[in-house]
Amino acid sequence: MNTAALTTFKRAFGIELPIVQGPMSGASGPDLVAAVANAGGLGMLPVWGRSVDDAKTMVAQTKALTDGPFGVNLRSDFKQLDHISMAVDSGVSLIHLFWGDLKASAIHARSMNAMMIVTVDDAATAKAALDAGAHALIAQGIEAGGHVLSETPRDELLATVLDLGGEVPVIAAGGLATPGDVARVVNAGAAGALCGTRFVASEESIAHDVYKQTLVGAGASATVRTEVFDIGWPNARLRALRNSTYEMWEKAGCPKSGQRPGEGDVIMTRPDGATVPRYHAMAPGKGMSGEFEAAVMYAGMGVERVNDIRPAAEIARDLVSELSI
Ligand SMILES: Cc1cc2nc3c(=O)[nH]c(=O)nc-3n(C[C@H](O)[C@H](O)[C@H](O)COP(=O)(O)O)c2cc1C
Repeated sequence: MNTAALTTFKRAFGIELPIVQGPMSGASGPDLVAAVANAGGLGMLPVWGRSVDDAKTMVAQTKALTDGPFGVNLRSDFKQLDHISMAVDSGVSLIHLFWGDLKASAIHARSMNAMMIVTVDDAATAKAALDAGAHALIAQGIEAGGHVLSETPRDELLATVLDLGGEVPVIAAGGLATPGDVARVVNAGAAGALCGTRFVASEESIAHDVYKQTLVGAGASATVRTEVFDIGWPNARLRALRNSTYEMWEKAGCPKSGQRPGEGDVIMTRPDGATVPRYHAMAPGKGMSGEFEAAVMYAGMGVERVNDIRPAAEIARDLVSELSI
């Protein structure tokens, strides 16, 4: 265990538990982020899919629920500079960047004196993040749920990024769901652990209850890495549960978009009445209705060890229970 790295990470970000709640569009809303921050962990609020005004409202809602530290999660490839300004002006000076060239976002975040955490997936992206002045790196391995650029298993990636990181704290992510998982990566030198799927199955997550229950019932070989759920986010690999849509497509010989079976079927309806077609990247969320099983349900390879739905604070505290901190 690298006690110095753990201490540096906790001090730098004002947290007590070296646990980061993965930013997850469709799962991490203000309630979840605030619950983790109030428990002493680091909450992450994804706002990259929102307008600046909507994002500002979500930041204000979160701040109303916690005085603890949390960050906002933005897509590097979208160059969401106005979102960065809004976050800092709203009193949130921690920006988490993922997906693509981070230069423009990093320069702007630095000019606003924001702290910066960057998700990295190989040596090149780790170096780019360090050159850009990242205050911590998240080494996200191929086991992770959601959209994942990494081609490398988490523990191998962690070792690579730790070598490059020097004094900069490195957080491990991907397939971490239990206190034993967290202890393992911390013993390997990580300054903390980021968990996503484990927090989807929390009481505060805004994922639909059917999605949460499906995670709890999922087994070891439940996930696939695929680009098939591409509507709304094309040409991007993600990890999710194998489901009937995936199997129908596989059985048809994995045809290209536009030639897939059931394309155009409406499988879910959102609370505002908008419909969600088959192969969409949107997972079942609170207030939606429809054929949930056919929709994408993001999950990491640790899903087989997610066995209950609990309050997020309990999950966060439990995750560190095998660490001597
Ligand atoms: C439902 C879901 C949605 C996600 N959405 C985002 C996102 O909006 N931004 C982001 O940086 N990562 C996103 N991720 C990745 C997580 O932040 C995290 O890196 C990943 O879940 C870690 O792997 P694990 O699920 O095996 O714990 C998402 C993951 C899931 C499961």
